[in-house]
Amino acid sequence: MSLAGNPLRDGNDRRLPRIAGPCGLVIFGVTGDLARKKLLPAVYDLANRGLLPAGFSLIGYGRRDWTAEQFTAEVLDSVRDRVRTPWRDSVWEQLASGIRFVQGDFVTDSAFDDLAAMTRRLDEERGTRGNWAYYLSVPPQFFSDVCNQLERAGLADSETGWRRVVIEKPFGRDQASAEELNRTVNAVFPESSVFRIDHYLGKETVQNIMVLRFANQIFEPLFNSRYIDHVQITMAEDIGLGGRAGYYDGIGAARDVMQNHLLQLLALVAMEEPVTFAPDELKAEKLKVLKATSATGPFTQTTARGQYTAGWQGSEFVPGLREEGGFDPDSGTETYAAATFGINSRRWAGVPFYLRTGKRLGRRVTEIALVFKSAPHQPFGAGQTEAQGDNALVIRVQPDEGVLLRFGSKVPGSAMDVRDVNMDFSYSEAFTEQSPEAYERLILDALLDEASLFPTNEEVEEAWRILDPVLDYWAASGQPEEYAAGTWGPAGADRMLNRNARTWRRP
Ligand code: BG6
Repeated sequence: MSLAGNPLRDGNDRRLPRIAGPCGLVIFGVTGDLARKKLLPAVYDLANRGLLPAGFSLIGYGRRDWTAEQFTAEVLDSVRDRVRTPWRDSVWEQLASGIRFVQGDFVTDSAFDDLAAMTRRLDEERGTRGNWAYYLSVPPQFFSDVCNQLERAGLADSETGWRRVVIEKPFGRDQASAEELNRTVNAVFPESSVFRIDHYLGKETVQNIMVLRFANQIFEPLFNSRYIDHVQITMAEDIGLGGRAGYYDGIGAARDVMQNHLLQLLALVAMEEPVTFAPDELKAEKLKVLKATSATGPFTQTTARGQYTAGWQGSEFVPGLREEGGFDPDSGTETYAAATFGINSRRWAGVPFYLRTGKRLGRRVTEIALVFKSAPHQPFGAGQTEAQGDNALVIRVQPDEGVLLRFGSKVPGSAMDVRDVNMDFSYSEAFTEQSPEAYERLILDALLDEASLFPTNEEVEEAWRILDPVLDYWAASGQPEEYAAGTWGPAGADRMLNRNARTWRRP
């Protein structure tokens, strides 16, 4: 495959702006939170950056009894305060001229026939040329109905133009259900037309992991068991779950973000260098490292899970999970998950990867820390290096995006004392360009048929294969531990690392 058209190569090349060709987007679940907060603003921003074709068309599909005008007003309401690029009436008017609404549920034939008629009309009126992407921002139990209806109504038929489906997680709740879901979707759309969204892959800092490793000479030689003691991947959130009980209760932190975002980060940090960044090459490497990865036991000692109780989050006293509306008062859903993973490869044998995530923690931060082994020999007196910790390379995914190198330095003065200092690269200081929102990047890539940043069915299934034993163990071991909101998680998480004389970083 040639490098031309490879998003990881020319994505930010201003000489080659990546503009989508004639096409339209249908959003199922358009009244949901994700569509309002992320998808619709991303569409406006793409239009504003000149990356959508002039005749771009957007069809909302939902149960509401809306006219196109009412839906357009709803879209305006959603995007007006959320867009990241400056507001321009001319862009909005151009976009609004292609907005339509089709009323229907996910099973009624006539509604999908209306949708088909609408796409044909837009093909003629606006030149979308039969090129349509269907964004399924709906719970996975409806994927099968929607896909089958798209097929029945001829909407999956790619004879007159391209047809792609974009799907949102959760992709199943274990390996078996993920396989079933993939079978359902792949029965209608070939894998090359399926774009599974893991929005972490759309983040600039996540793509920068590959640049850091493979565009530089300094770091990559150190990425192995000879130098690295262990790796910590942290995704901490300060928000709670108010309003998301319907989705989250019974799902929990591990299924929500560890199976996808965190294991994808692990794959990018640990994989071998791909031959090129063409989708197939990149996927081959990610899949290979995932296949070599498994959860390390015994799980009583190597995992931890928790549920937040009421507590002080900064200056605000917030309720515990079970007091939040919508949750079962006996809910055993974990809001904190930590587990240990090992990679069976020459590069990583013996290096534990500790993954943790939680809601209502001390602050919002996602980072990957590669913690180094101590120098094999210290010519300094023990007292002189007392204040020195471990060297670490920290990739800060968000916020304060950047990379930090932590190492020992001489404390000024007549003694030879060593203390840790930071060498810090910050995106906001180094670049004037603002990073596009992850969804902007991913929607554009799907319209351009550029699949590098989308996990394949095999990656998704492999990630479940890795996590399932931990989930089974937790399912059989009672309630999660409690931790107070605003803290850094349950005591079991600290025990998990202390046992091996390690500690979690306080990011
Ligand atoms: C989503 C999870 O995938 O990621 C949410 O379902 C989580 O529970 C969100 O809050 C976090 O995304 P971000 O981009 O704010 O880190």
